[in-house]
Amino acid sequence: MAVSKTCGTLRDLQLALRLKMEELRQRDALIDELELELDSQDDLIRQLQVQLDRHRSTTQLQGAAGDAASTVEGPQRMKRQAISAEPTKLDPSQLSDVTLKSYSKTKESSELIQRALMDNDFMKHLEHGQILTIMDCMHPTSLTKGCVVIQEGDDGSTVYVLEEGMVEVTKQGQKLCSIGHGTVFGELAILYNCTRTATVTALTDIKLWAIDRQGFQTIMMRTGLIKHSQYTDYLRSVPSFQELPEDVLSKLADVLEETHYSDGDYIIRQGATGDTFFIISEGQVKVSQQNSPSDELQVVKTLTKGDWFGEQALKG
Ligand code: CMP
Repeated sequence: MAVSKTCGTLRDLQLALRLKMEELRQRDALIDELELELDSQDDLIRQLQVQLDRHRSTTQLQGAAGDAASTVEGPQRMKRQAISAEPTKLDPSQLSDVTLKSYSKTKESSELIQRALMDNDFMKHLEHGQILTIMDCMHPTSLTKGCVVIQEGDDGSTVYVLEEGMVEVTKQGQKLCSIGHGTVFGELAILYNCTRTATVTALTDIKLWAIDRQGFQTIMMRTGLIKHSQYTDYLRSVPSFQELPEDVLSKLADVLEETHYSDGDYIIRQGATGDTFFIISEGQVKVSQQNSPSDELQVVKTLTKGDWFGEQALKG
């Protein structure tokens, strides 16, 4: 009896030990998982901090620009796009003189540049065509560790995408952040026509893709001008606008904004107060009406490219 009791106790102990070890193994796995999670949260916090700092830099720029605008012309409505009508040093009449040179790239480099442009808060709203053209015109360059790529306060002439290595961003001698591969920098001075907002120094040997101010602004303006003339043509095709002078059409084209709807989306609901005038640039729109709440919706007409609706909104 005494022996079997001892065996039983030993077996119980072994079992309890195995259970404990399994419990410990599961805890270790959980700790590993939590550490990974913590690392990725730290990464996210770092990225958000970088974005926040950049936004602070540009909020100051926009604030200064806004103050200037409100003293000269009164308060202005902000455009939806991050990159708007900041005055550029490029004369539109020189646009056709600028030839954009293209530089060949590997598939990996092309993808890295495109992703970097699309991840950048100030460039992600660019049209896909603009992103492709900017990518195409970027040329390779490299610098050694310790070189100053951008000096705070200088006039900006180049936008960069970091392909390899690390750079450090400092402002008035204080470190703001370090930036790794696949990141755009040097965009603020070009987009906002201001001096460089920070100093960027190579922490390692670095490989960069670069585009100069003139090439960058040409791509932005050409698309802008093409859009403007397309919008003016749309407006001219609306019979009630045909008598309007060219400068009025042009001003209307300035405030036209492109909006996308998916198949089946409602654009205007019958009975709702209208505040927007629409011109169809692509696709079809079904107009339906209900004579009384108990009636079925009746399709009245189908509108296509160049047709317009919501004109009552313009009459107030
Ligand atoms: P730019 O002002 O043209 O030149 C310095 C660049 O440093 C700037 O564009 C941004 O790309 C980058 N930069 C400025 N402020 C920050 C910041 N707070 N965090 C990360 N990058 C920044």
